Amino acid sequence: MSPLVSPYKNFDELSFPADHPGRAVTDSYYANRDMMLRTHTSAHEVEMFRRGETRWLLTADVYRRDEIDASHYPVFHQVEGARIFDASPSGMKQVEEDNARVSNILAKSNIVIEDIPHISPTNPVQHNHDPVFSELVAKNLKLSLNNLLLKVFGGVAGISKQEPLRVRWIEAYFPFTSPSFEVEVFFQGKWLEILGCGVIRQATLDTAGVENKIGWAFGLGLERIAMVLFGIPDIRLFWSTDPRFVSQFEQGKITTFQPYSKYPSCFKDVSFWLPQNSEIHENDFCDIVRDTAGDLVEDVKRIDHFVHPKTNRTSLCYRINYRSMDRSLSNEEINHVQSQVASQLVERFEVEIR
Ligand code: DAH
Repeated sequence: MSPLVSPYKNFDELSFPADHPGRAVTDSYYANRDMMLRTHTSAHEVEMFRRGETRWLLTADVYRRDEIDASHYPVFHQVEGARIFDASPSGMKQVEEDNARVSNILAKSNIVIEDIPHISPTNPVQHNHDPVFSELVAKNLKLSLNNLLLKVFGGVAGISKQEPLRVRWIEAYFPFTSPSFEVEVFFQGKWLEILGCGVIRQATLDTAGVENKIGWAFGLGLERIAMVLFGIPDIRLFWSTDPRFVSQFEQGKITTFQPYSKYPSCFKDVSFWLPQNSEIHENDFCDIVRDTAGDLVEDVKRIDHFVHPKTNRTSLCYRINYRSMDRSLSNEEINHVQSQVASQLVERFEVEIR
C-alpha cells in the first residue's frame, strides 16, 4: 500500500478530532493539502476491514516529523493487527472458547501480568456496545497480546530463563478505540512501552461497511523493539549497509549487537536571532539539519533561548552533535555542512546568524 494517503484516511476515518496535534504541518509530512505520508499503520484499518478480513496483520513504513536523537528517525516501521468477531451470542461463544484456550497457554508459561479492569469509568465501553461483549473482546485482546509478547520476549537475552516475563497493562486514550490500553514490558530494569491497542470504535467498522461485528486492534513500533532485543544503540543503524552491521544478523535469530567502534563526536553550535514576531518549530529546525547533514547527525539539542530585554528579539542556540556510524569525520567536512545549515536557516526562516 502506498505510504501516501489523504489526511482523511490517516485521521478523520479514525475519528481524530479536527484540532488533533498530529495533523500539524510541524508534526507530519504533507505533499500538499490533500496528500500526506501516513503517520501510522492505523491509516489502513478501514481499507483492511473493507476487504472483509476478520483477522489481519499489516507491516509498513510510517513517517513523522520529530526531534533528532538516538531513538527518533523520520521513517520507521509499525505492525498493525486486528481481529473481529460476530457481535452475537454465537460470536461471543467463539471468543469465550478462544479466551479459555489462550488462558490455558499463559497459565503454563513463565509470565507475570499486571492487569487493570477491562472497562472502567475513565476507559469506558462504547455506548453502542453490549458491555458483556466488549468485556469479552477486551479480554481476548489482552490474552492474545500477552501471548504475542511471550513469543517475542520470552526466553530472550536480558530476560533470564528463570525470571518471568513481566507485562503491565495501562489505561490509554486513542480516538479510534474504547476502551484503550498501552502495554509495557519489563526489560533490563526498565518498563518499556511496546504497543497501543483497544476495542475498535464502531464508527471505524461502520465506515468500512462491516456490520454486526465487534473486535480489537493494536499497533506497535518495530525499531524500538528491535533496538531493545538486539541491543542496537542508535536507530540510524537500521539504515546502514556497512557489512560490520549487516553481517551480524541472521534470519530468525535474536543476537546481541557487538558495536564495532564508536567514532568521535563533533559538536557545532549555531545561534541566531529570529525575525520579529516569528517562531521556528524545533521540528523545522531538525528538518533543515536532516536535509543538509543526513545521517551524520546523532542528536540536536536547544541549549539557549534568550529574549533581549531592550529590543525584545529572541535568540536561539542549538547544539548539533555530528557523528558518523561508520567512519571518522573531519572538522573541515563538518564545518562545511554546518555552514550549509546556517545558510539554509537564513534562506528558509530569515534568521540572523549571531
Ligand atoms: N496508531 C497508534 C500509534 O501509532 C497505535 C495504535 C493504538 C494502533 C491503538 C491501534 C490501536 O490499532 O487500536 O500510536
